[in-house]
Amino acid sequence: MENNIDKTQVRDMFDGIAESYDFLNHFLTLGIDVRWRKQAIKRINQKEQCNTIVDVATGTGDLAIALAKACKPKQILGIDFSQEMLNRAEPKVIKQGLEQIITLQQGNGEALTIEDNYADLVTIAFGIRNFQNPDKGLSEFYRILKPGGQLIVLEFSQVKQPLLRILFQFYFKQILPAIGKRISKHPEAYNYLPESVNQFAEGQEFCDMMCKAGFHAVQSKPLSFGIATIYWGFKTV
Ligand SMILES: C[S@@+](CC[C@H](N)C(=O)[O-])C[C@H]1O[C@@H](n2cnc3c(N)ncnc32)[C@H](O)[C@@H]1O
Repeated sequence: MENNIDKTQVRDMFDGIAESYDFLNHFLTLGIDVRWRKQAIKRINQKEQCNTIVDVATGTGDLAIALAKACKPKQILGIDFSQEMLNRAEPKVIKQGLEQIITLQQGNGEALTIEDNYADLVTIAFGIRNFQNPDKGLSEFYRILKPGGQLIVLEFSQVKQPLLRILFQFYFKQILPAIGKRISKHPEAYNYLPESVNQFAEGQEFCDMMCKAGFHAVQSKPLSFGIATIYWGFKTV
């Protein structure tokens, strides 16, 4: 599976909306994004054994910060290829007094410069659908995980209930892009959001991609009528 949007375009887009990202994220999801990240953290198999965590596509750092509080790990590497997004994460990490635990690094999630078998847990929230080649990303996550380590993916998905789907698609394709464009001043980013979600694999198709990358015991749980889904799986011991 290849995305037809180029990764430089994606990076420039996130650089362009970084300033308004947090506000718009919470505003456009009515704050439910915070609950979704908490739900994703609940799927961690053994929190107390997560000493090394890599949060890929960490953006403005919300999941990395929530993981630091929930798991008390020795180290979290927050990786993102948008320096502007990381620049927004940094003061939040410092404000929480987590700078000894969370290290923010610019990098490409499809070609990580992290050694094999490094992490107890790899997470990615609302990031993988933006990858040029999500299969390559999943293989990288598998490579850097320790045997027995866990991957947790949080990503938008499709609402299945027909009436809710119509209502949600109206919001997602008409209202959200208009508000997003007005506040972020970015002409395209909030049109790209529904397009990228509607084109991306979800449910069983994404579970199959995780299995193909080598993960086992792969499971998924839709959240909020399927607006988002948590996926998780393990590297073979
Ligand atoms: C929608 S934001 C999600 C940020 C954060 N995880 C959250 O939950 O709010 C997507 C992030 O993925 C990053 N991203 C997209 N493709 C990437 C890649 N190939 N490597 C690293 N970061 C990537 C973008 O720069 C952006 O910060």
